[in-house]
Parts: sequence; C-alpha cells; structure tokens
Amino acid sequence: MQVTRGGETLGATIEGLDLSRPFSPDEFDAVVRTLGERGVVRFPAQELTGRQLADFSARFGELEINVANAYQEPGIPEVMILSNMIENGRPVGLADAGQDWHTDMSYSGTIAFANVLYGIKIPSRGGRTLGATEFSNMHAAYEGLPAEMKRDLEGMTVLHDFNKFWEMMRREKGSRRPPLTEAQRKAKPPVSHPIFLTHPITRRRVLYANPGYAVRINELPQKESAQTLAYLFEHQLGPEYRYAFHWQEGDVLMWEDIGTIHNAVADYGPDEHRLIKRCQVMATRFHEEG
Ligand SMILES: [Fe+2]
Repeated sequence: MQVTRGGETLGATIEGLDLSRPFSPDEFDAVVRTLGERGVVRFPAQELTGRQLADFSARFGELEINVANAYQEPGIPEVMILSNMIENGRPVGLADAGQDWHTDMSYSGTIAFANVLYGIKIPSRGGRTLGATEFSNMHAAYEGLPAEMKRDLEGMTVLHDFNKFWEMMRREKGSRRPPLTEAQRKAKPPVSHPIFLTHPITRRRVLYANPGYAVRINELPQKESAQTLAYLFEHQLGPEYRYAFHWQEGDVLMWEDIGTIHNAVADYGPDEHRLIKRCQVMATRFHEEG
C-alpha cells in the first residue's frame, strides 16, 4: 500500500489496498495513523458490496444503525444509502444528509469516531464532479485559538442537540423533513461533552464544538455562551483550516469525526444522480478523552 499525503491541511490517498479483503495488522495501523494525521483518507477504485463496506468499517468500532430505516441497505441495517435518485416513485436513499457544517453524532452519549462512505454514482457537469464534501481541521482550529481562550474554556462543556440541525434543515434549506415528534425528541435528548477533547489517535487536543449541533456552553451565562459559540463557529471555519474533497466514482472516503467537521455541498440538481453508501463508526474501539 502507498500513502500520499496531500499538500493541504487535511487529506491523504491510500492506494494498493483492496478494502473488500482482510488486511494485516500493520496495514490497519497505517490506516489508523494516516487517519489521525490527515483526518480524511481516500481509497480510490474500490469495488465493494454493502456487506464488505460494513465489514471494513466494523474493524474500527461498533457501527451505528440509523433510525431512518427506510434508507438502509436491505438486510444490512448498518449500511445507509444517501441518494437523490427516485426509483418506482420512491426515494432510493436519504437525499439531504449533512448539508451544512456539523460533525456526526456529537448529540449522542457515545460520539462518532469515523465515517466510511463509498461513492457509487457521482454527478458531474462540464468535466467537474459535483457534491464535494468539505472538511475543517479541529486540531488546527484548537491550536489557532487565542491562548487565553484555551485557558478560560478548558474544563467547560458544550450541550449538543440533534434537533438543532434538523430544524435548521427545515427552516433554512427547504428540506421536506417533518418536525421531530415528541417521541423522537425524547429518544434523542441533548447531551454534553467537554469543549476540548484529547483525540484518540493523535493524543492532541481538539476543539469539539460544531455549528450543526452545539447549542450552549453549560458553564457560561446565556449571553456569554452565545457570544463565545458565535466566535468559535466563525473561527473553526477559517480558510486555513478548510479542505474540499472532490469525489470520483469508486472512491471510499473515510474521515474521523473527532478532529474534523464537515459539510455536504448540495450543488447538483435532481437529475444529476448521486448514490453513496455509508457506515457510521462509533467511538467504541477508539474513544476520546475529556
Ligand atoms: Fe455528516
């Protein structure tokens, strides 16, 4: 296998590794190391069944089974289908996943460690692929904070609410998602995590707050919390921390969720078909520390 680090703040390509087969502990360690150092790793030209995608992903931790069971791969609930395609009058997958800045599962007691996405159909226009996935580097965003802010916020916690992103999609993005029911909201109560975490691979500090789900810094008065979060949301999307991944069909893209935040760019139309299979790896094998 060959690892090529990109020249930007995040991103690497690993070639020569067939993800449909088991690989050695040394190869596994190299993938983990690259994931920690570069945040986002591309494995080009893969050919995987849903089962193989789930088996590869499950090496890194327990897989989450998404509540949206209409969009699961038949017989493999750990594999979720993201797509804007319609077949026989029915959506093939979830069409508007992740279309603003967030990190997955920060609203959950057990947070996400990584995502593994397999790009099967990628739309393109005029020779350029559409539907990029953008990332921002939370190791670098932490390091770039003013020293007094690192000191003052150390030990504080942030409240994350699943409903924040859901309602933003409904209000600002014209999503057809219905409001969460009382039962759904009860099933996903807001949870708190430390505002800075120690990353499980790098052992370095990261900023763990994101515009999608973070609603409150618990230890600050409401007004100061709102001002601080507004500052952090702007700071963490600084151009020096950003990286855009442009898909090619056959790519498997793996990213870690503790040291990055991401955004799915919705720059393609309903007739520009996109089909991606996704597994969500939870932070069970590799887990953060406060
Ligand atoms: Fe996401």
